[in-house]
Amino acid sequence: MNNLRYLIDFDTDKVEHEYCDVLIIGSGIAGVYTALEIPEEYNVVIITKDCIDISNSVLAQGGIAVSLDEGDSPELHFKDTIYAGAGLCDEQSVWVLVNEAAANIDCLCNFGVQFDKKSNEELSLTREGAHSKNRIIHAGDTTGKEVCDKLISVVETRKNIKIKERNFALDLLTESGVCKGVLAYDETKSVVKVYISDFVVCATGGFGQLYENTTNPEIATGDGTALAYRAGCELMDMEFIQFHPTVLYHTENKSFLISEAVRGEGALLKNINGERFMPRYHELNELAPRDIVSRAIFEEMKRTKSSHVYLDITFKGKEYLENRFPNIYKTCLSYGIDISKDYIPVAPAEHYCMGGIRTDISGRTNISGFYACGEAACNGIHGANRLASNSLLEGLVFGQRIGNEVSNLLRNGPAKKSGLMMKFVSNNITKAIDREVIRENLKKIMTKNVGIVRDRESLIYALEQVDEYNKTIENMKNESIRDYELQNLVLISKLVIESALEREESRGAHFRSDFDKTDDIEWRRNIVKKRGTLNA
Ligand code: SIN
Repeated sequence: MNNLRYLIDFDTDKVEHEYCDVLIIGSGIAGVYTALEIPEEYNVVIITKDCIDISNSVLAQGGIAVSLDEGDSPELHFKDTIYAGAGLCDEQSVWVLVNEAAANIDCLCNFGVQFDKKSNEELSLTREGAHSKNRIIHAGDTTGKEVCDKLISVVETRKNIKIKERNFALDLLTESGVCKGVLAYDETKSVVKVYISDFVVCATGGFGQLYENTTNPEIATGDGTALAYRAGCELMDMEFIQFHPTVLYHTENKSFLISEAVRGEGALLKNINGERFMPRYHELNELAPRDIVSRAIFEEMKRTKSSHVYLDITFKGKEYLENRFPNIYKTCLSYGIDISKDYIPVAPAEHYCMGGIRTDISGRTNISGFYACGEAACNGIHGANRLASNSLLEGLVFGQRIGNEVSNLLRNGPAKKSGLMMKFVSNNITKAIDREVIRENLKKIMTKNVGIVRDRESLIYALEQVDEYNKTIENMKNESIRDYELQNLVLISKLVIESALEREESRGAHFRSDFDKTDDIEWRRNIVKKRGTLNA
């Protein structure tokens, strides 16, 4: 394993310092909501590597799961989450999630988020895969955008919250295993700087850019997960990568999500011969858990020698579709697909990482003062396969918990404003290598060998290739954001492959064709990865 501790050489004495009570890395729902939980007497800095409104959360379509309907309850939401998680959920974390969901949705409504309502003004609830009740609240088919836009607009009114765009978090700075701050590259000034803070929250999202086709934006390169690992954090469940069953399959676009809510409203999956196939795979048909639907599509594509299947919602009227799914309707139309008349070509694509930085129910990691939240974190709520629409909810519930925990700690003892004397000098050299080719090849290797179905042979092959790339970029002087991202992507891919190799069974989103059964005796446990303490 590449034992790199820091991405760059630095001397904290020679770079700009900025102090803050709480530093948040990432501006998706988890990051901004956590910031809003910190009382206004404490100063908070949010750093984000692109613009404030570029995140995975903004792209979320379907909605947020919450048990509000008559006949529904946190208990049923708990049961469905556990079932979808294929035996690997942490029950304590799931109870927190389902019990604290409604209060956080109230908070969102108080911040001005407009969810769709029924004529009686109650929130309108739809269904998604593996939910036993209608419990998905939504804002058309752009729920993430509505939530993030509103939260960001509130953040912008808070005098205690500073937003630093185009600031790339390079590495966590620790002393004796305690968080001291973050080394960052400020692209706006082309300088390295140090954010000194006793409390750092990592909300950087996932790493979908490891795959050729993903619903994630370009920024999803696992930077926070890699930074945490280098600093000595435990990472958990890295082998579980969720592939969303229905992503548009079009020559010009293979990353546009066709929300699960479309199936929730009755859409049927059909193979290229026009035959409905889900009843052959699961009793819940199109609304089976996501890992099952994705694998069924994969099988059906293989069987019919096709690159895609179809989603059929043509039996709903044009007016209904334009109102309920305006973004999907418009986007498909821009590719010549009128979803009120045409089947939508779809195929599975990478969507979400269940694994990440191991935390407890307060978002604490094994590094004191360092917290993680949202997709970057792994507190066990998703187990081996996330239940639809639990991800925005996770950002809210655990963001609020981290906010509360950090605020209490700040009240008990204000942050110390002492400087940091740290230095790192390597023997790294400038290397003339084609980073973009490695990046593209890495995606191809991961897609082909570490996808919906894996086996020992494909994983060993992927590991050998990644090891070669690792050697190539080892001792490379990292000189740009693309370089930092490449180091992070290679590190994360290695951790995903090693975990997938180790787990010799099939469970949730991890399907091994050479171990196609679930083995509860040996494998009802998590795989945790942690770097050695060298150079820490
Ligand atoms: C979707 O709209 O299908 C995505 C929802 C989710 O990822 O939970």
